[in-house]
Amino acid sequence: MAASTNSFLVGNQTQIPSLKPKPISQSFLHLTKPTTTTTRTKPVSIRCASTATVGSDPRVTNFAAGPAALPENVLLRAQSELYNWRGSGMSVMEMSHRGKEFLSIIQKAESDLRQLLQIPSEYSVLFLQGGATTQFAALPLNLCKPDDPVDYVVTGSWGDKAFKEAQKYCDPKVVWSGKAEKYTKVPSFDGFEQNPDAKYLHICANETIHGVEFKDYPVPKNPNGFLIADMSSNFCSKPVDVSKFGVIYAGAQKNVGPSGVTIVIIRKDLIGNARDVTPVMLDYKIHDENSSLYNTPPCFGIYMCGLVFDDLLAQGGLEEVEKKNQRKAKILYDAIDESRGFFRCPVEKSVRSLMNVPFTLEKPELEAEFIKEAAKEKMVQLKGHRSVGGMRASIYNAMPLAGVEKLVAFMKEFQARHA
Ligand SMILES: Cc1ncc(COP(=O)(O)O)c(C=O)c1O
Repeated sequence: MAASTNSFLVGNQTQIPSLKPKPISQSFLHLTKPTTTTTRTKPVSIRCASTATVGSDPRVTNFAAGPAALPENVLLRAQSELYNWRGSGMSVMEMSHRGKEFLSIIQKAESDLRQLLQIPSEYSVLFLQGGATTQFAALPLNLCKPDDPVDYVVTGSWGDKAFKEAQKYCDPKVVWSGKAEKYTKVPSFDGFEQNPDAKYLHICANETIHGVEFKDYPVPKNPNGFLIADMSSNFCSKPVDVSKFGVIYAGAQKNVGPSGVTIVIIRKDLIGNARDVTPVMLDYKIHDENSSLYNTPPCFGIYMCGLVFDDLLAQGGLEEVEKKNQRKAKILYDAIDESRGFFRCPVEKSVRSLMNVPFTLEKPELEAEFIKEAAKEKMVQLKGHRSVGGMRASIYNAMPLAGVEKLVAFMKEFQARHA
């Protein structure tokens, strides 16, 4: 039986509410100011790129920078558990975040992440919200006073955004910027002057837009200072010595899960110094004391991250994951470098990102065609960021080798047709 607009379907039965609700437009009338003009809203439709459904495989090869592709086995597992999580009779989205089911989910996620990154016990792991962008403010609010000097190395747009946000809360200085060279480099660590009193030194470990990645990490000049890294776009893509950092933070939506979860790994002695004005949701101490459950966390996102961590461990951990990432990146960069200038990657070779590969065409007028034809082959999201143009292939952990091989074969074929 079809349900009418004012009835609810429960199981197979239609229940008629005892009080018939007013049509929405009427029941909200008392909340809006009387007005003489009427605004007509156009109906909004949800769109889908038609190429995705062509052919027998319903999935595309997704080179998006984030939200990005997730491992297929993780998606299928989530699908199989969606309706009834492990016999609990409900989905993860419907559980109490304080119930034993969800507690087991978040605890396992943390424990697997600790194992993956070999996180020392002196560090807390927090599952937060608000994206890495929120951390740009949370860091200075928690870690320094308004007059404190802090240092930022700016190797791309994200480092620059972090610096600009910090200007509201402390006294940051850009100790090195790659802007003049269009963010294609990482400085040598003795090539910039750190403030010996800086409370911390901030880097963006992988610049998602420009494709510049730190292969090693600078040591803060201040013996009491510490290093902070935004690892949003290379988190869990390779082993990292966490003990070199005071804070590592990352949005999940590139390598480890859906958007909505931000992971902060912080040395415990740095927690508990938030300024009085710090909003409760930005105070690391509050989240640490409450095991990331001070308020309702992004439960489903944390569950998905947990499935990804489990999968990364099953692959043999981050050493193995790094090997796969190196192999994928090598065949793509080789294809660019061996194209005799038809394709170009502007980034200095020694600091090219394993995750985000920006490239341009010698004949820029062909770029739109390249992207269009690739989409016809079900390779999507290859357009470079609007601020830099060109193309960008993001090849995070979940991108299979076959996906990169398909792109490389297409690039060669495209070149043969247009060179
Ligand atoms: C390196 C880096 N930092 C920060 C951000 C901002 O993340 P969010 O949009 O989750 O706030 C991004 C987003 O793409 C990023 O790539």
